[in-house]
Amino acid sequence: MAGEAKPREFNVHVKTAKRRDYASTLWLKRQLNDPYVRKAKAEGFRSRAAYKLIELDEKFQLLRPGARVVDLGCAPGGWCQVAAKAVGKSGRVVGIDYLGMPAVPGADVLEMDFLDEEAPQKLQELMDGKADLVLSDMAAPTTGHRSTDHLRIVGLAEAALDYAEDVLAPGGAFVCKVFAGGAEGDLLNRLKMNFESVKHAKPKASRSGSAEKYVVATGFRGVTDNEISED
Ligand SMILES: C[S@@+](CC[C@H](N)C(=O)[O-])C[C@H]1O[C@@H](n2cnc3c(N)ncnc32)[C@H](O)[C@@H]1O
Repeated sequence: MAGEAKPREFNVHVKTAKRRDYASTLWLKRQLNDPYVRKAKAEGFRSRAAYKLIELDEKFQLLRPGARVVDLGCAPGGWCQVAAKAVGKSGRVVGIDYLGMPAVPGADVLEMDFLDEEAPQKLQELMDGKADLVLSDMAAPTTGHRSTDHLRIVGLAEAALDYAEDVLAPGGAFVCKVFAGGAEGDLLNRLKMNFESVKHAKPKASRSGSAEKYVVATGFRGVTDNEISED
């Protein structure tokens, strides 16, 4: 995909069927006309999201053979597929999602809520060591209530960063889905304090109408506030 242009748009017309409501018709039309959905199908990826990680990797060089990767919110498995292929047999990919998904060769996946207090320990048992890269594409279902949705998004991103700070090896990287203004406030301050570089990116594969973007933090410094003694 290096330097490739955005795939060509299609224009499949979808009629509203009797038993399909307007929102479902719009969704179906968008899926059928989405060039990344077609490309993912043709290239054997579970999700169009796979191209977001491919693009982020091209831009920030996140994946390399032998790397150890944790994928938070991994279903249906597009990022796991991309990561497993890139890290190869000498690397490790561990994912978690509360939704089940068929196995991805080269990845170990936990079916559980990442916010469950036992999740970090279970992930650690599978990782068996520090991680080079923590990815979070987690997105909670929206309620339509703006401030509730915003709090949920921030809560997931903060939980992902708490975890990343515990498990990343020095020099490691953290990629997290954020929305609207990107990483803000405390989250952004923590990222800036604990990583050498913090950038925002919106891959071409991320729908232009969506407020989604990613914060990419590289060069984990290895010592966080959590570990600094107060005396
Ligand atoms: C956009 S999808 C991820 C797509 C994935 N990156 C791929 O390439 O196929 C977001 C996922 O986050 C998961 N998720 C959201 N909150 C979660 C949580 N608390 N624990 C585990 N998974 C969660 C959802 O179930 C959903 O599958």
